[in-house]
Amino acid sequence: MVETFEWPLEPSPEAMRRMVEVVMERLAAHVGSLGEQPASYDQSQGLALSERLIEPLPQRGEPLESLLAALFDEAIPMSFNAAGPGYLGYIPGGGLFEAALGEFIAASINRYVGVWVAAPGLVQMEANVVRWLCQIIGYPASSLGFLTSGGSIANLSATITARRDRLGEDFLDGVAYGSDQAHYSVLKAGAMAGLRRRNLRKIPSGPRQQLRLDLLEQAIEDDRRAGLSPFLLVGNAGTTNTGAVDDLEALADIARRHGLWFHVDAAYGGFFMLTERGQRILKGLSLADSVTLDPHKGLFLPFGTGALLVRDRRALQVAFDETGDYMPGFQEADSSVDFCRLSPELSRAFRGLRIWLPLKRHGVAPFQQALDEKLDLAQRAAEALAATEHVEVVAPPQLSAFAFRATFPDLSPEALDDLNRRWLERINARQRVMLTSTLLDGRFTLRLCVLSFRTHLDRLDAAIEDARAALAEVTP
Ligand SMILES: Cc1ncc(COP(=O)(O)O)c(C=O)c1O
Repeated sequence: MVETFEWPLEPSPEAMRRMVEVVMERLAAHVGSLGEQPASYDQSQGLALSERLIEPLPQRGEPLESLLAALFDEAIPMSFNAAGPGYLGYIPGGGLFEAALGEFIAASINRYVGVWVAAPGLVQMEANVVRWLCQIIGYPASSLGFLTSGGSIANLSATITARRDRLGEDFLDGVAYGSDQAHYSVLKAGAMAGLRRRNLRKIPSGPRQQLRLDLLEQAIEDDRRAGLSPFLLVGNAGTTNTGAVDDLEALADIARRHGLWFHVDAAYGGFFMLTERGQRILKGLSLADSVTLDPHKGLFLPFGTGALLVRDRRALQVAFDETGDYMPGFQEADSSVDFCRLSPELSRAFRGLRIWLPLKRHGVAPFQQALDEKLDLAQRAAEALAATEHVEVVAPPQLSAFAFRATFPDLSPEALDDLNRRWLERINARQRVMLTSTLLDGRFTLRLCVLSFRTHLDRLDAAIEDARAALAEVTP
């Protein structure tokens, strides 16, 4: 006889409603106070926290309220406030609430979007999203792509697509080129795609941190003469270091002349194509064979949303189309798609909804406006810092990021590095903003990137105020 229990894994509609209310109360308080929360936390306490939270496999259930307490009162406060307005480090993300709703709905309905026949309407919504992204970057109707977990996987998928398209199966002599400013995921993608590390070229960048075209052409010619097979060129549309944008038109031309696949890493900068200024700065982006975008950066979505777009969708099919006897039939219409044939994944989250819902609810105008605001804010902050005594803006904003440092002519380079390190610590200690650093020409450099939809003028002014006050504290 089969025993009957109360099945706790299947709550009643009323129980579901109560759970959502409890969660919503916590969320409203948390998200509503992001601006007042500290920008970061005391990192010396991080290890103690993670050790305190180690626990065995739970044998019994606990009330939702006490679990939320552990999450919201203990774990969340000890983290970078990456969704808050003061997050000006690395590349800020976002966290639009409608995207969270999309995620919640997608996980609750749990429909299958890996193949078209399983949910044609939902797959069409995701295909629409991908086409909108193609439209934003100026791609033609032949283009398509797919949503990924982020820019790293998009760059990896682009490298594999390029490798299949240009080299087929014998690719060990293949050579890929990018600048010394490329995100490290580009190099990692080459290694993961099976290329020889010694065939991954880092071409030096010149003024404005742009890839040196003369050195690139020279390297391609040298490699050809050495019997190697140049096949991939990766350009930057907004580097992580300083927000630098390569001369994309010139790179497209070099790639075309040498028969290279041209991929652009626009993970950070790509969505500035929504603005007129961005379109001017990123001119040539639509000439790329493939483009990485991170909606979890410039479209203000929660982390876990990237995209790879490809100018000719057939290249994706060549790279990723496999099937098994147990699979349902695929559809052949040009208007829709079986995403498992164009991408590495089969079962996966319905990522489309977290983009579809915010874009449909708001339309594109508020996104354009917010991105224009970021360009203005970065410009204003850079000007204010440049006007500050002892501060040099070493990489002015090309988009919404820039790099700067304190300079004192009497100090050695090592002493200056140390001073700048302490300056950054003092700025961040004030907890209104969080900035991060990088090395530029081997020297410790502060950087500031404005990208969150929650960051406005008041927070940038606070950043400048804190930077000036902190500099006074470390001035020799
Ligand atoms: C320019 C650039 N490319 C690629 C990446 C990697 O993207 P993700 O962190 O989404 O994997 C980043 C991340 O910050 C980036 O800024």
